[in-house]
Amino acid sequence: MANNILKGKRGIIFGALDSKSIAWKVAQHAHAEGAKFVLTNAPIALRMGTINELAEETGSKVIPADATSMEDLKVLYEGAMEELGGKIDFVLHSIGMSVNVRKGKAYYEQNHDWTMKGYDVSALSFHKTMQAAWELDALSEWGSVVGLSYIAAQRVFHTYNDMADNKAMLESIARSFGYHYGIRRNVRVNTISQSPTDTTAGSGVAGFDGFYRFANDLSPLGNATSDECADYCISMFSDYTRKVTMQNLFHDGGFSFTGMSETAMATYLKVMEDEKEVSDKK
Ligand SMILES: NC(=O)c1ccc[n+]([C@@H]2O[C@H](COP(=O)([O-])OP(=O)(O)OC[C@H]3O[C@@H](n4cnc5c(N)ncnc54)[C@H](O)[C@@H]3O)[C@@H](O)[C@H]2O)c1
Repeated sequence: MANNILKGKRGIIFGALDSKSIAWKVAQHAHAEGAKFVLTNAPIALRMGTINELAEETGSKVIPADATSMEDLKVLYEGAMEELGGKIDFVLHSIGMSVNVRKGKAYYEQNHDWTMKGYDVSALSFHKTMQAAWELDALSEWGSVVGLSYIAAQRVFHTYNDMADNKAMLESIARSFGYHYGIRRNVRVNTISQSPTDTTAGSGVAGFDGFYRFANDLSPLGNATSDECADYCISMFSDYTRKVTMQNLFHDGGFSFTGMSETAMATYLKVMEDEKEVSDKK
């Protein structure tokens, strides 16, 4: 359904690790919509992942950057502006990592050095991404910055751990920087709060399959896929959304505003029926 709505736009896409990554789909859709962009990821991820295949498919250059390093970020912006021939119209921040989640430390027993690392990678990097651009005046008038979030910023998901706090901070940074960048360059800044999605980061959360099924059963439209998330990102980069800013935008098939659904209720009723049958037999 490509309509060339990003024709002439220049972007930077963070976070494409492999073909399951949400950022990977965003790059494919942005390419189909006529955008030119630079792909970037942490140097270690570039070694482990398959980003070069995506670069070839989309005719993009890859510039490594650890998103926690202001120095790397500035080199990235300078390289991207040179490669693309001008200021940057859109940025996708699709980055998340918690060492506590990876190493199975529960919320109440965090290693706080790991917490700080996860915070730096998952939340503060969003601020750094914009501050580096600010210092170089690298974003175009009416540019668009999007970060990816999750509803654990508002509601408790018992194994989402310190990533919940990181997402709350990410959404807050979108509001605060959205204000300042709006005043300075009419740049808009938003987060998209996406359904559970089967990716390396997503499936690393304990009980992911349960979260996925529960969200799908509760959402009237079902979970949003990574391709659908990419479509939403594209609309946020396009000129059709120029006055949307400082928002956390739920892209979750209606999950965030549903208390109970017929499908989820049927599951509970079935469990209760089974329990009654067992107790009647006793
Ligand atoms: N998968 C889900 O269920 C889900 C749901 C809602 C939101 N999100 C968010 O979507 C975003 C993308 O995640 P994904 O699901 O596509 O998983 P993914 O694992 O494919 O992407 C995460 C990316 O972060 C990158 N990264 C980690 N540390 C970095 C650093 N220091 N510098 C630069 N990049 C770094 C990784 O290399 C990787 O490419 C994350 O913010 C994630 O929290 C995911």
